[in-house]
Amino acid sequence: MTPLVDSFGRVHNNLRISVTDRCNIRCFYCMPADNVQFMAKEKLLAFEEIERFVRIVQPMGIDKLRLTGGEPLVRRDLSTLIAKLSRIEGIKDIGITTNGILLAEQAQDLYDAGLRRLNVSLDALSAEKFKQVTRREGYEKVIEGIHAAKAAGFDPIKINAVSIKGITEEEIVPFGHFARETGCEVRFIEYMPLDADAAWEREKVLFADEIIDTLTTGIRPLVPLANQDPRAPATDYEFDDGIGRIGFIASVSKPFCMSCNRFRLTADGKIRNCLFSLEETDIRTMLRDGGDDEGIRQAVRESIGAKKEGHEINMASFVQPERPMYSIGG
Ligand code: 5AD
Ligand code: SF4
Repeated sequence: MTPLVDSFGRVHNNLRISVTDRCNIRCFYCMPADNVQFMAKEKLLAFEEIERFVRIVQPMGIDKLRLTGGEPLVRRDLSTLIAKLSRIEGIKDIGITTNGILLAEQAQDLYDAGLRRLNVSLDALSAEKFKQVTRREGYEKVIEGIHAAKAAGFDPIKINAVSIKGITEEEIVPFGHFARETGCEVRFIEYMPLDADAAWEREKVLFADEIIDTLTTGIRPLVPLANQDPRAPATDYEFDDGIGRIGFIASVSKPFCMSCNRFRLTADGKIRNCLFSLEETDIRTMLRDGGDDEGIRQAVRESIGAKKEGHEINMASFVQPERPMYSIGG
């Protein structure tokens, strides 16, 4: 079957599936503080519908999946979905991005269902700063979750830390030490304009270069890793003594759109060809109203075919998408 290629020649093998828009914390760069309008239950794709969709698109070359939210672990029986997806032939890699609050409870079940790769979103290594960013308690639970995941055998475990000026500078060096001590790769993600409050400004982004400087002076120099996957969004480094891995997702200062290989399925069954796209394709209706497999593949091809060259965060004409991060799925 023809691979999923867009008009810029980018081959798409990576599907991110949001399983819910609900979340048990309220990170300010993603969600509003209160009165969040969550999707009605009947709008969410059932596990069977998600599985069918993956089986339909897999032959176009999809071999990598990542489950996201909201917070994916608040979706009931998530490990059942993972077990279904990991049985699909051709799927080589399934990961999840979680905030870690429920991880200690679920790590073993997830591992037993076939999950191996875990990204934990954690922006601070102090309970107080955690609360400032997430507007909720839970720091200790996340740390406990990371340890439980290690004990269950997850590898790799990566920590995603959103970098925000005026807020997370003091976290940089502690995260450097954390990477060295735990063996988890810490990946700093530049704050992007996907917040529900639409309060993002370029001045609030803590750039990768500044973080590299802080780690170099605060700990020791970083050297880029050899043989990196050019299609991965993160650029990976190691401290020069070989201990501790640090990655950077410099979406604002060094956009990696030209090597993008991913598209998204939202929890309510819409295809998005980019985090920042302003248009989406309704797959749920096709799944529910008797759409055939080839028709669904055609809709996906059209969505990918219409993918833009890249996001335009750095341009005056940039328009923030209506869906904030929690409802897209990161
Ligand atoms: N900017 C950058 N990263 C974000 N994330 C959520 N919202 C934003 C934003 N506005 C991160 C989460 C998670 C990943 C899916 O995206 O912390 O780790
Ligand atoms: Fe929840 Fe993730 Fe959004 Fe934070 S960034 S509020 S953990 S969905």
